[in-house]
Amino acid sequence: MVQVWYITGASSGLGLDLVKHLLEKGDKVAATSRNIAKLESLISKESESFLPLSLNFKENIEENIQANLETIKQKFSRLDNVVNNAGYGLLGFVEEVGVQRLKEQFEINVFVPYLIIQNALKIMRPQSISEGGNSQNIKARIYNLSSIGGFRVSNNSTPYCMSKFAISALSEGLMLDVGEYGIHTINVMPSGFRTEFLGGNMKLGDNEIAAYDSRREAFLHNAKAYNGKQAGDPKAFARIIYETSRMPNPPLHLFVGEAAYSNAKEKIAWLEKEMQGTRDYAGIAADFSDSIKSAFSGKA
Ligand SMILES: NC(=O)c1ccc[n+]([C@@H]2O[C@H](COP(=O)([O-])OP(=O)(O)OC[C@H]3O[C@@H](n4cnc5c(N)ncnc54)[C@H](OP(=O)(O)O)[C@@H]3O)[C@@H](O)[C@H]2O)c1
Repeated sequence: MVQVWYITGASSGLGLDLVKHLLEKGDKVAATSRNIAKLESLISKESESFLPLSLNFKENIEENIQANLETIKQKFSRLDNVVNNAGYGLLGFVEEVGVQRLKEQFEINVFVPYLIIQNALKIMRPQSISEGGNSQNIKARIYNLSSIGGFRVSNNSTPYCMSKFAISALSEGLMLDVGEYGIHTINVMPSGFRTEFLGGNMKLGDNEIAAYDSRREAFLHNAKAYNGKQAGDPKAFARIIYETSRMPNPPLHLFVGEAAYSNAKEKIAWLEKEMQGTRDYAGIAADFSDSIKSAFSGKA
């Protein structure tokens, strides 16, 4: 069955290749860009299956999102998949990145996706319920572009990773909220892909401190050399996302790229080892003996 998609940040990288692949596969795609003329020149003007939309990430962002969704409803009459793809990396050592830049990072990478989800659910939740959607019968999907950096922090990347950890939490939490209405969340955690991420869209700290000079310079040198040589192929990424849209039981945690798997496994082994070493003195030793079952459960 043809599916309808809403994808943000589609004028380059993963978003652009995803839009192209979905259109080739015969799906219907509404895609946003801050620069709609660029998006139209890279894909096409509006057609029967393609709807280019402007999302500026600046003023009146919620009204802008609502207008996008209304246009999608009018044109395609439904919405099956949301892809929170737009985002960028604010890289740098904590001491060198001012809090204003960090707030901007969270605005684009976390708060805008949150608003998109809140507003898209107003369409997707009733649609899914009316079509018999439930946790065994998935009728719609939300893809959040987290990162392997949303699972394991890498060097010189704490501000970016903070935002991606927040997105990973949003994804897990959404499964608890709306999984039972047939809306499945996929937290997408890629390793390095050949896009504009380390090119023109990357941002850095604004408060250089001499003690970090040599480490900052070494990092920037390595990042420049790595840019364009990453293992991840955006076209393969697009095929993988399409595949999950046709799965009856897609994953919640989707690592993409071999390095994402090896980094995640290292983190899991590290956690297990540390927990073994701490449980004896920080587990039951911390508890009252008359407690009852917790009100919090992490299982959807
Ligand atoms: N490439 C990787 O190695 C990698 C790894 C893990 C996760 N990711 C995540 O994957 C997603 C897509 O990134 P990409 O690798 O495809 O990078 P990209 O080529 O830079 O594309 C990201 C898109 O996000 C939008 N964007 C970039 N900076 C923005 C800003 N300051 N404000 C608002 N929108 C902005 C742009 O869309 P418009 O200009 O069209 O609006 C851009 O096309 C991001 O969320 C990124 O964090 C990437």
